[in-house]
Amino acid sequence: MILKLDNVNKSFNDIDVLKDFSMKIYSKEIVCIVGPSGCGKSTLLNIISGLIQPCSGKIKHGRFNISYVFQEDRLLPWKNVYENIRLVNKDSSREKCMDFISRVGLKGFEGYYPSELSGGMRQRCSIARAFNYEGDLLLMDEPFKSLDYQLRIDMINYLLKLWDNTKKSIIFVTHEIDEALMLGDRILLLSTRPSKIYKEFIVQNDKMDRSLDDSSLMRIRNDIIHSFQHKGK
Ligand SMILES: Nc1ncnc2c1ncn2[C@@H]1O[C@H](COP(=O)(O)OP(=O)(O)OP(=O)(O)O)[C@@H](O)[C@H]1O
Ligand SMILES: [Mg+2]
Repeated sequence: MILKLDNVNKSFNDIDVLKDFSMKIYSKEIVCIVGPSGCGKSTLLNIISGLIQPCSGKIKHGRFNISYVFQEDRLLPWKNVYENIRLVNKDSSREKCMDFISRVGLKGFEGYYPSELSGGMRQRCSIARAFNYEGDLLLMDEPFKSLDYQLRIDMINYLLKLWDNTKKSIIFVTHEIDEALMLGDRILLLSTRPSKIYKEFIVQNDKMDRSLDDSSLMRIRNDIIHSFQHKGK
């Protein structure tokens, strides 16, 4: 186990967002988190990353670095694509940064500034930046949300390849159930606020070789959709 949350509570003013939230993350696993908008998924990632503090509860983990693809791209507007990616890991070679740039489909745009990019391009730049940081745990908050269908598939495959090479744990927040089915060893469905894990789905199929047509994945998808309708009730 690399991370453990015990009865974490978080409120903003009078809004309870997380209540007695407990979760374990094991090494080498991809955990996908789905749940209603506003239930506290980004708040959870912000707490795990240490960006915000919980009101109470315990977070246990060893010493490790965290890479974080934020829900919004958070690029530095005065740095170009290459510089934004290089910035987080000054030891990375130009060749390595250029490889990430090419992998996320931004070859030729390395000299562009964030204001000159589309939303999806900015998002891909922030994904490449997180990959280049090479943390021990990767947090991804709806990372593929502004990408077209083919890019999304390409990014899922690339993420899997990267995971296969590094075997680092990933927490992946998404509203797309199919993304969760393609990537997750476990899929956690959160309830409405105050949020808890409403249901956990284990996906046993080898994630390097999954097809959404597979009957076991279709069963889990139906189960998630059905559970989603009843969450928090
Ligand atoms: N800094 C903050 N100050 C006050 N309230 C906040 C703050 N951050 C989040 N909240 C509130 O906490 C709740 C959960 O927000 P959060 O961004 O974690 O939801 P989410 O599950 O990520 O939603 P989405 O799927 O829309 O991204 C919301 O009601 C939001 O208004
Ligand atoms: Mg969010």
